Amino acid sequence: MWKPLNLTPAEPYRIKVVEPVRLLPRDERLRRIREAHYNVFYLRSRDIYIDLLTDSGTSAMSASQMAALMMGDESYAGAESFYHLLESVREVMGFPYVLPTHQGRGAENVAFRTLLKKGDIVPGNGHFDTTRAHIVDKGGVPLDLPIPEALDPEVMHPFKGNIDLKGLENLLSSREGDRVPLVLMTITNNTYGGHPVSMDNIRRASEIAREYGKLFLMDVARFAENAWLIKERDPAYRDVSIREIVREMMSYADAVLFSAKKDALVNIGGFIALRDKELYERMARFLILHEGFPTYGGLAGRDLEAMAVGLREVLDETYLSWRIGQVRYLWSRLVENGIPVVKPYGGHAVYIDALKFLPHIPQSMFPADTLAAELYVEAGVRGVGLGSLAFAEVDRETGKVRYPKTEYMRLAIPRRVYTNLHMDWVAEGLRRLMERRDEVRGLRLVYPSMDTPLRHFIARLKPVEG
Ligand SMILES: Cc1ncc(COP(=O)(O)O)c(C=O)c1O
Repeated sequence: MWKPLNLTPAEPYRIKVVEPVRLLPRDERLRRIREAHYNVFYLRSRDIYIDLLTDSGTSAMSASQMAALMMGDESYAGAESFYHLLESVREVMGFPYVLPTHQGRGAENVAFRTLLKKGDIVPGNGHFDTTRAHIVDKGGVPLDLPIPEALDPEVMHPFKGNIDLKGLENLLSSREGDRVPLVLMTITNNTYGGHPVSMDNIRRASEIAREYGKLFLMDVARFAENAWLIKERDPAYRDVSIREIVREMMSYADAVLFSAKKDALVNIGGFIALRDKELYERMARFLILHEGFPTYGGLAGRDLEAMAVGLREVLDETYLSWRIGQVRYLWSRLVENGIPVVKPYGGHAVYIDALKFLPHIPQSMFPADTLAAELYVEAGVRGVGLGSLAFAEVDRETGKVRYPKTEYMRLAIPRRVYTNLHMDWVAEGLRRLMERRDEVRGLRLVYPSMDTPLRHFIARLKPVEG
């Protein structure tokens, strides 16, 4: 087992602006979840005490980022703010060309519209759901090739986000290989537990892609957290700076897709960064149609400024040690309380195995979403179910439901927003819920039907009777 890197004893900031949150009395929380059809997406944020629905777009900005907002150049073309972002991307990631987008999925849309044709296969270590949806939208076939350890919540592998290199090589050397235009690595691997990808795995995957003449792209939404976990878990990188680790990771990619709502510490934004001028020009044509002129790409000048500052701030090793330390803190509190968590901790979230937490509730009654609804009632905390409600598939011919292999509830931690006292409250809520878990009943889907895509966002549920 690796030794965790811990440099920061407490939050490496002091609080200048506060946003009040309130814990409603329990009977009101019960009423609110009933009114929300037992689906946490329907809750109003004012009724939530600690919101761990997502780490995306929920970061607290720094005083420097707030100051940079005032420097926004709102010109349609040639804005100074774009050039500030360009300089920052060149310095941090080393790519010469940048196309801003309104957020990560905007980058996915433009990149895949440029690169994919009907029937193409896109292999990766674990495509995020919007990535998957954009590949399908262009007539492509997304293919996840995680390592087998990624599917076992008990295994303490340091880099469970890795791609199965053998599987990738087999695909590219087979007849199907002709249908693959690119390989996409997602760093960290959000879909399979927010686990990091090792430097060796990135390098080897890029070499394999190159050997077969394929483009090698990375989704780098959480690039700095991945770099920190490489430093923590690979002894060869212990003494290498985060800046250098990031530059090496990026050096293997032809282009990256970026949701700035994570590791650029902003509330909105994204970009595509590339090495090749011709590819940049082809993508710029789609960018103008779908996002905006290439020097703003669907964002205000002030958003570009905040991103430029956030990209540099996120490399601060004191910040990263505290950030990952907070995820580890919550994870460790839960382990101590006997809560069945996915092992080990990753970069942005703690995942709870709902099948073990609620063993009496079958997947047909949505244990992960039941757990999320019950945690809100117990503690005013919002997590999110990532299980059968979101991922079960209905066989078109037989009508039989295929349930996913994993049934997790995710607690994603916003960056620089909560203290470890908040984390203690989350852990205490789960401990109390564990004590009364036998009385928890599962849920049934009232609306829409099980074969509706992205149904978990709009689902209305009811407790199972009896
Ligand atoms: C790995 C990954 N890629 C892409 C996206 C999509 O980014 P956005 O929400 O900015 O569109 C997300 C969002 O959570 C993500 O986690």
